[in-house]
Amino acid sequence: NMNKSSAKEKINLLRDQINYHNRKYYVEDAPSISDYDYDQLINKLKKLEQEHPELIIPESPTRRVGGEPAEEFKTVEHSIPMLSLDNTYSKEELADFDKRARKGLDENDIEYVVELKIDGLGVSLVYENGILIRGATRGDGIHGEDVTGNLRTIRSVPLKINNDMGLKKFEVRGEVYFNRPDFEKINHQRESAEEPLFANPRNAAAGSIRLLDPRITASRPLKIFFYNILLDDKTLFSTHYESLKTLKTLGFRINPNTTFCKSLDKVFRQIELWQEKKSSLNYDVDGLVIKINAFSQQDILGATSKHPRWAIAYKYPAEQAITEVENITVQVGRTGSLTPVAKLKPVIISGSTVARATLHNEDEIKRKDIRIGDTIVIEKGGEIIPKVLRVLFDKRTGQEKVFSMPQKCPACNAGVYRPIGEAVTRCTGATCPAQLKERLQHFASRKAMDIDHLGTQIIDQLVKKGMVKNFADLYLLSEKKVADLERMGEKSARNLLEAIDKSKKAGLNKLLYGLGMRYVGERAAYLLSNSFSSMEELKSAPKDKIESIHEIGPKVSESIIYFFAEKKNMQIIDKLKGLGVNMESVKSNEQKDLLQGKQFVLTGTLKKYSRNEAKELIINAGGRVTSSVTKNTDYVLAGKKPGSKHEKAKTLNIKIIDEKILKKMLDT
Ligand code: IVH
Repeated sequence: NMNKSSAKEKINLLRDQINYHNRKYYVEDAPSISDYDYDQLINKLKKLEQEHPELIIPESPTRRVGGEPAEEFKTVEHSIPMLSLDNTYSKEELADFDKRARKGLDENDIEYVVELKIDGLGVSLVYENGILIRGATRGDGIHGEDVTGNLRTIRSVPLKINNDMGLKKFEVRGEVYFNRPDFEKINHQRESAEEPLFANPRNAAAGSIRLLDPRITASRPLKIFFYNILLDDKTLFSTHYESLKTLKTLGFRINPNTTFCKSLDKVFRQIELWQEKKSSLNYDVDGLVIKINAFSQQDILGATSKHPRWAIAYKYPAEQAITEVENITVQVGRTGSLTPVAKLKPVIISGSTVARATLHNEDEIKRKDIRIGDTIVIEKGGEIIPKVLRVLFDKRTGQEKVFSMPQKCPACNAGVYRPIGEAVTRCTGATCPAQLKERLQHFASRKAMDIDHLGTQIIDQLVKKGMVKNFADLYLLSEKKVADLERMGEKSARNLLEAIDKSKKAGLNKLLYGLGMRYVGERAAYLLSNSFSSMEELKSAPKDKIESIHEIGPKVSESIIYFFAEKKNMQIIDKLKGLGVNMESVKSNEQKDLLQGKQFVLTGTLKKYSRNEAKELIINAGGRVTSSVTKNTDYVLAGKKPGSKHEKAKTLNIKIIDEKILKKMLDT
């Protein structure tokens, strides 16, 4: 039972401590405390704030992630336009820039600062009395989007700075980006979720900053480097280099690879240095930025409407090389996609030996007419694997071989097919080793067989040790063997086996979804299990019968037909059945059809359920959830702070309900 003033002191002290360690960890890359101790501090602070909610302030380190998803972003105007940089691709062009600057300044004494050009997303942050009050994207340079909620989630963005300098209001600018390994991880996750992949880390950063739900942004390890501070007080520093030091002192993360260059020759040396060295960084750099150091000189040179005359970007051209296609093989991705890959006669490009190039898909090979034996030009840009630019047709001998997609999966020998309207050919094998982990994860997921305790780490071990080669093997696991796995014990092994056993009862709906047939998502699985009473019935159903189900189209039916046509898949289903997995539709409770055919749209923040939970409740009762309100919408489920959808529902005279009413609809 603490009195208020001592609680306040404790809270302030904790916030200062956390901010200090945060800066050490995320800004200076020099952790000063263990993760465990850090979490302890955070938990202490959270607890105190819970006990004294009146002491909560937005800049508290516990408030990085604000709960409410936005409906849209506000447009904001930049105090000073965020200009872009002019590009150069050669030393000659750079020498021209230097010449122009000397002419404009009418003097010969120019110092440069050379920075890495981070390939991310430019943003601006405004601080008032040391507290972050606004964060925006660059936008078109004049207007940006207010993405404060998302930028607050970036750990290297200070919510509050140590304002010993007593700064009233200032703005900082920098580049938000992903480390390459983090980017790859995000794309892996997206691939498993069958979401479109980001083409490069830059797009991923831009996409993550423009998410409406800051909770999702918070889950992505975005980073930022700052390179600019705009301050009313012009006396604090007179050069760019000094301003970077001030940024650092204030606790803003700056890139450590910035150099001060007394001459253009020194700048050239940096260009040569980073040509090779940039590939050793773990984030993408698309060039260098060369800035004139003295603000007095910057002011004289000024800017055009687009870019400053005192800075320029030097861009490294994507390197090209000529080589030969020795073979075209096919790789099976984790989700069963068959991707043709060119095996190349090894060449050195951008400092590394390259022996492969992605060919994306069949159509691209046809379009570029790439054949085995061809001499080709490849290019290595931002991506890890280079791409084929073109074939040198005059090198053809007539011996080249045209590639065709295999009829069987190279990883498991199951049948493959190319879904209607798609560019990618896919393996149909439910036991395909290339897809095993993904498939098991999906099989175990909540909306599928809902096997608690069967997380990725366990799956990784089970697969690696060869204990599970298909879905059926899960039901054959012994407690003793499972207990021997890392991070397991007798108790957790028992829990896992119980969860696996329990999943046998999941029923046709969840099983169909869990089997992971392409295009058979939650909704399709539900509809199928409504129309077919058992797996037996579905597997012998002709295509037109499947398609006669309302909402089931040819893509779904085609996928089902191909799935059941594969002998291995039938074998696994028989095995599952033999092991006691329920193959029948479970329609035990009458609830199932309560919302049959009703269309719902969700808006605002729900209190009782998460969006996903609400969605699942509706779907399980036969309803469906769509994203926009139309005249076909039956109900709009509105939470707190509903957005434009709520308005639209009103104008269209659509029933607006809250969570309580939804619950009632489901309870009766
Ligand atoms: S200075 C007027 N410095 O590149 C000065 N920009 O093409 C412009 N960028 O919009 C900003 N790294 O988003 C600067 N070290 C760096 C940079 C950098 C990346 C981005 C920035 C800018 C774009 C210009």
